[in-house]
Amino acid sequence: MSSCSGTVFVNGRFVARRRAAVSVFDRGFLYGDGLFETMRSYRGVVFALEDHIERLRASANVFALPVPKLDWASVARELLRRNRLLRRDAWVRLMLTRGPGAPVLMPPGRPRPTTVLMAGPLGPDRRRRGASAVLLPFAHESFLAEHKSLNYLLGVFGKAFAESHGADEGLYVGASGMLHEGTSSSLFLVRDGSLHTVPAKGILPGVTRRRVIDLAVAAGIRAVERCLREADLFESDEAFLTSSLAEIVPVIRVEERKIGSGRPGPVTRRLQRLYGDAVERYRADRR
Ligand SMILES: Cc1ncc(COP(=O)(O)O)c(C=O)c1O
Repeated sequence: MSSCSGTVFVNGRFVARRRAAVSVFDRGFLYGDGLFETMRSYRGVVFALEDHIERLRASANVFALPVPKLDWASVARELLRRNRLLRRDAWVRLMLTRGPGAPVLMPPGRPRPTTVLMAGPLGPDRRRRGASAVLLPFAHESFLAEHKSLNYLLGVFGKAFAESHGADEGLYVGASGMLHEGTSSSLFLVRDGSLHTVPAKGILPGVTRRRVIDLAVAAGIRAVERCLREADLFESDEAFLTSSLAEIVPVIRVEERKIGSGRPGPVTRRLQRLYGDAVERYRADRR
């Protein structure tokens, strides 16, 4: 799909990408007053769609944002079909804003939410080769971190910081030296065969994070949710990042220092296989 071709779902209609538009008074544009979800479809099936909608709803409740009643799976499938993405894996992005309103902070009494779904082919796959990361010199410590709100300026800044330092991902480090998560990923460490990740408080409750913990526990791998420090990272045997789009990506280097052997480790590899199996089971149930 070129940057101009393709179809976008906007407020109930499928429109050509070049015609897809929302008002400059949309509160998503004015204030980042909205939420989004980034999902991955596997040959036409959006994995863990219900988890993403549940997270969206939970945040929408907090911010009193009305969620339209839509058959999300059907809309996503039709979007993928129109974009010729049914036979390959793709990203699917759902955006929900409070819709148009006056440029004042106070939300309108009767919001007319804007709903957008878009999809496109996936970017580079780092699952085999692994990724590098840097520690960001700033934190993401606000209750907004727990929501996938349209305020992602810190993530934009963090990703650009990482790239300018030759790394694939930036890890937020709290003021007290605690590791949080990546700009668009959850962080896991492996030590003596056990998984360690920070509790889902003050970070985005990652859909993949939850699935990985459940898969690990079901496979007899211990998973511990606890605070993590920089030293834990460098003392770990393995580290990996999770996200819906990237799945499970080994972290092989942080700040020019090798993590473990500097190569994707056995626990990470095992979890990648378990995750792949889970995706296949999910697809099989929905075909
Ligand atoms: C800050 C942050 N943490 C974690 C994740 C991973 O979340 P999920 O597994 O739901 O894709 C993301 C995804 O974009 C993110 O932006």
